Amino acid sequence: MAGKGPQFRCSECGHAALTWTGQCAGCSAWNTLEQVSAAGGSARRPGRGGRGSAPSPVPLREVSAERSKRLSTGIAELDRVLGGGVVPGSLVLLGGAPGIGKSTLAGMALANIAAAGEDVLYVSGEESAAQVRRRAERLGEAALSVPMLAEPSLETVLVALEAERPAACVIDSVQTLAIPDAAPGSVGAIREATSALLSSAKRLDVTLILIGHVTKEGSLAGPRALEHLVDCVLHFEGERERTFRTLRALKNRFGATSEVGVFEMREGGLAEVEDPSARFAGEARPAPGSVVLCSMEGTRPLLVEVQALVAPTEIVPPRRTATGVDRNRLALVLAVLTRHAGLALSSADVFVNVAGGVRIDEPGADLAIALAVASAQSGRALESDGKPLACFGEIGLTGEVRYVAHADRRVAEARKFGLDRVLGPLPGEGAVPGLAPVSSLKAALSGGGASRLRRAA
Ligand code: TYD
Ligand code: MG
Repeated sequence: MAGKGPQFRCSECGHAALTWTGQCAGCSAWNTLEQVSAAGGSARRPGRGGRGSAPSPVPLREVSAERSKRLSTGIAELDRVLGGGVVPGSLVLLGGAPGIGKSTLAGMALANIAAAGEDVLYVSGEESAAQVRRRAERLGEAALSVPMLAEPSLETVLVALEAERPAACVIDSVQTLAIPDAAPGSVGAIREATSALLSSAKRLDVTLILIGHVTKEGSLAGPRALEHLVDCVLHFEGERERTFRTLRALKNRFGATSEVGVFEMREGGLAEVEDPSARFAGEARPAPGSVVLCSMEGTRPLLVEVQALVAPTEIVPPRRTATGVDRNRLALVLAVLTRHAGLALSSADVFVNVAGGVRIDEPGADLAIALAVASAQSGRALESDGKPLACFGEIGLTGEVRYVAHADRRVAEARKFGLDRVLGPLPGEGAVPGLAPVSSLKAALSGGGASRLRRAA
């Protein structure tokens, strides 16, 4: 009996247990523990003939790996984030805060796929058929011809998939599918629905786009639990009050995860922003607290304006507000500014903002944050030939400016917009035309030496 090792195993995470419990102690999933038979296999899934016949492993080169043709969503930015369109039969999770535009994006993609002659299906568990219709009216004629199913149960959706066999199906949202004996939206229900949809979609070769809500506080409880089940996790983000939206891949079994799509919410749906640098940095002018950051979003360089405000305060501790950049990165940069550049910030509120509502998620933003804060504090604008200063680079704890990838492409993007001098770390492979190399934060701030910065009074 007991003493011969675990008697139960979780079908989700493989956690082994001596006694059966309703919830797995390993992954917190419910009802996933299965009894393990004496032979070592799962009692619920016995192998063929007792221990089962020995499988014969196949060398990888003999495994068939046909590349299936990707399905274009008709939205170039979305296709790019997916890695060149969506792979037929794959499962895509589209997450984001309520109101960000998930249903709009998914509806537009379905309309395009339908217009290209494929069968599609839109399942709405969240909005009534009338609400979905009203959105489709805003999106245009093609969106109105998308077949839809409103407020269904998981069971009905599975039957519909079997009957219709669409090339692509949107489930809006995975949290609202009704599942017998489960509280809608609970992690167990979401996981069960997704597993059922997954096996059905793989068998029928249906591309599934699952929409999942993510709260603004970043509580991803429901959708997070699905991330390992799906092929691709897309996150749609931005500030609801602003029109710009960015779409990122957090996981992609069929492509890179670093690509970012930029959209603008307009009347008539989401419009792709083709030249985001012009949109985000085009209005930057030399002013105290403003610098242009040459960042990389995936394989694409992106210029953004980083703004800072430093205001004296009596509040202890003073406020540190970061919008569009990571708070922890800001804290680090402020500490380095205080310690290595002698900036007195202990009795000042510091606000840092990336103009336009984009979020920059790379260490190359450090130098821009530091220079914007220093410039805001001194009240002097940083400029180069009458243009705002452009820069990039990671800041290390000792005050050094560290190398970040793609210096050449960052500088080239800046030059495209007439910013001919870019401050940044020298890459290992040598000089880059237009790059004024800096190796420390102090050197970047002093404006002397290699940077030859002119500070306007
Ligand atoms: P929606 O796609 O419903 O968001 P989500 O599914 O993520 O909750 O749309 C979000 C907002 O976009 C909504 O407030 C209305 C607005 N919107 C437009 O501005 N223009 C449009 O053409 C459409 C369809 C929506
Ligand atoms: Mg919606």
